[in-house]
Amino acid sequence: MRGIQLWRRSEITAQIIDGKAIAQKVRTEVAVGVSNFVGSHGFAPGLTVVLVGDDAPSAVYVRGKEKASQEAGFNGQVIHLPEITPESEVLAIVHHLNADGTVHGILVQLPLPDHIDSDLITSAISPDKDVDGMHPTNLGKLLAGSPGFIPATPLGIQRILVEEKVKLSGAQVVICGRGSLVGRPLSILLSQRGPEANATVTLCHTGTRNLACATRGADVLIAAMGQAQVITADMIKPGAVIIDAGTSRVNDPTRKRGYRLSGDVAFEEVSQVASAITPVPGGVGPLTIAMLLQNSLRAANRATLGV
Ligand code: GUN
Repeated sequence: MRGIQLWRRSEITAQIIDGKAIAQKVRTEVAVGVSNFVGSHGFAPGLTVVLVGDDAPSAVYVRGKEKASQEAGFNGQVIHLPEITPESEVLAIVHHLNADGTVHGILVQLPLPDHIDSDLITSAISPDKDVDGMHPTNLGKLLAGSPGFIPATPLGIQRILVEEKVKLSGAQVVICGRGSLVGRPLSILLSQRGPEANATVTLCHTGTRNLACATRGADVLIAAMGQAQVITADMIKPGAVIIDAGTSRVNDPTRKRGYRLSGDVAFEEVSQVASAITPVPGGVGPLTIAMLLQNSLRAANRATLGV
């Protein structure tokens, strides 16, 4: 109740962070790097995405990755395998891609069908081509603070915060969601020593006893739960920066496709309390693709120049 009064009274109207514009900036930087790479080597850096099955959201994400990689000048390929593909065959394809000198980056889209062990497949990707940053070697490097590949969504969130000049050093950052693609690696990334991190990070999850109590202390709140609109205005400290990494499909008969995308944050009410907020869509999502491209260019440069 106290929180609801807070946001109704508040005069703050949040700045809406334009993730598409930031992503475009990154994609332009990457395209220049790719052009230089082609100039030096006479061939394009290669990124291959493996998609198994017919999960509709995954198919949309993978199409986006393929299109963006080709626009940036990569040799961007998708290997689309049927749902019933045996685990051994997916493993064999990963081994083949590891050995292919024209492929510098490999991403196996998650989730995989139930009969395939995601950890087994992720661990089979060469750490040097693991542009998803999900191989245990790269996750270990992230933990150790040494240079490896960092998962794209956490990198993209950090880039948004840097571009928006959000002071992270000493800030209270609260992350909701401990998933291995976003929340957990992001908690490590933002708590590292360094000018673009150095935050005091609280990682909340389904076991957190009083979520609102934790979120109300956040200077920067990052939602990565995958539950539509669960972060409400009464959970926000006035003036906080809100990053919404959730994307859920919510039934919407008024839309031609029958659904709309929703973030984890109740955007309308929270934007009256926050100082800045990312929308869904158009916030974190575009950065995920852009940072994948950045990682892929880095993989290609490291493979060919050792940088
Ligand atoms: N599925 C949803 N996001 C991702 C991602 O960043 N990487 C992979 N491999 N799968 C995903």
